[in-house]
Amino acid sequence: MTAVVPNGMAPAPVPAAPGTASGAFPDGVPSPELAGLLAEMARYLEDDPPALSLPPRAFLSPELYELERRRVFGRSWVLVAHVDDVSKPGDYLALTVAEEPVVVVRGSDGVLRGLSPVCRHRLMPVVAPGSGTTDAFTCPYHLWRYGLDGALVEAAYMDGNPAFDPASCRLPAFSVEEWNGFVFVNLDPVAAPLAPHMRQAGRDLECYPLGQMVQVATWVHQWGVNWKLAAQNVYENYHVTGLHGNTIAQITPPGADTDVRVDSPWVTCLRTPLNAPLEASAVDLPEDVKRYMYHWAVFPYGSLQAFADAIIWLSVIPTAVDRTEVRGGVLLPAELVAGADREALRRNALLTPDIVNADDKQALEAVQAVLGSRHAERGHLSPKEPGVQVFYRNLAAALLARH
Ligand code: FES
Ligand SMILES: [Fe+2]
Repeated sequence: MTAVVPNGMAPAPVPAAPGTASGAFPDGVPSPELAGLLAEMARYLEDDPPALSLPPRAFLSPELYELERRRVFGRSWVLVAHVDDVSKPGDYLALTVAEEPVVVVRGSDGVLRGLSPVCRHRLMPVVAPGSGTTDAFTCPYHLWRYGLDGALVEAAYMDGNPAFDPASCRLPAFSVEEWNGFVFVNLDPVAAPLAPHMRQAGRDLECYPLGQMVQVATWVHQWGVNWKLAAQNVYENYHVTGLHGNTIAQITPPGADTDVRVDSPWVTCLRTPLNAPLEASAVDLPEDVKRYMYHWAVFPYGSLQAFADAIIWLSVIPTAVDRTEVRGGVLLPAELVAGADREALRRNALLTPDIVNADDKQALEAVQAVLGSRHAERGHLSPKEPGVQVFYRNLAAALLARH
């Protein structure tokens, strides 16, 4: 492991990064409310940023959400799956990323692609959200058929329209990247690769056989919250004693400091000490990995978390201004899975994540419900939540098109 910034704010990283854009506000004139929110958020980019939570309206404003759809989710790498979800030719996963429909599909050539499922004829989605295996996407409306690479292969009764060129008709592409078995999507079709930003995380995780690990459990939950409530929550462990008394609080010291190491404008490593060293049976853990809960977060929020033999992944994806999909999974080394009862493994792997996720969901939905209160104001952040300020800074940089 490289040095971690001890419980402090790491230097603000605002260099060029994937999908670089520039200009103060190229999308038009913001309303006074949006302009005010952006002015407040710009302060997180200062050398001495305010140790304050976001303005409550930042979690409610449809206008800010629209800007986030373009400037944050329109050009960030979003963790959506593990390769075990799309391992064979024809396997697909369809979902929405900030209301943009996406299908990730493995082609017959073995290549994983990101496609828009919006039919080129009259916009019917060619596949419903969910997962499955297919040899083609046939639009249910007028039966245009597309191959797994997005190319149109059949459109009946179109010969009489000379303006229509079937050879150039295809489902639009998104960027997809597999990093050590984790599947990321970027709505920007020419996004710069994520891998260079993950170099340090890769070194940290060298003790795990990431490429051979097996996903033993997954979840997809719907939370009635703005995505930033869910994201900022996982950038800190300060809430553990409040919300996770029966789980995480049992293994971490009360008031444990979380160290933050900023690896890139997109990747932040957080670590929190444990009461007792972890023991793994199939992974040779370095001493410091035994003594900490490690968490690598990819902005906006997809993460890998290492815990003994297991790697847990988690992703926060908005589905509306006040709704968020929380996806995740648990991986184990193949040798622990071979010959084991898979259903027992699955149930066991979900025991703690199910409790932790339910606790977070209940609490954050309670926060969402009072965001409009006349007494909802910005609060002071604790020194125990340095990751939240890194998240705010990256958010401000993305919204103000500064990274
Ligand atoms: S909308 Fe897809 S075939 Fe008509
Ligand atoms: Fe939590």
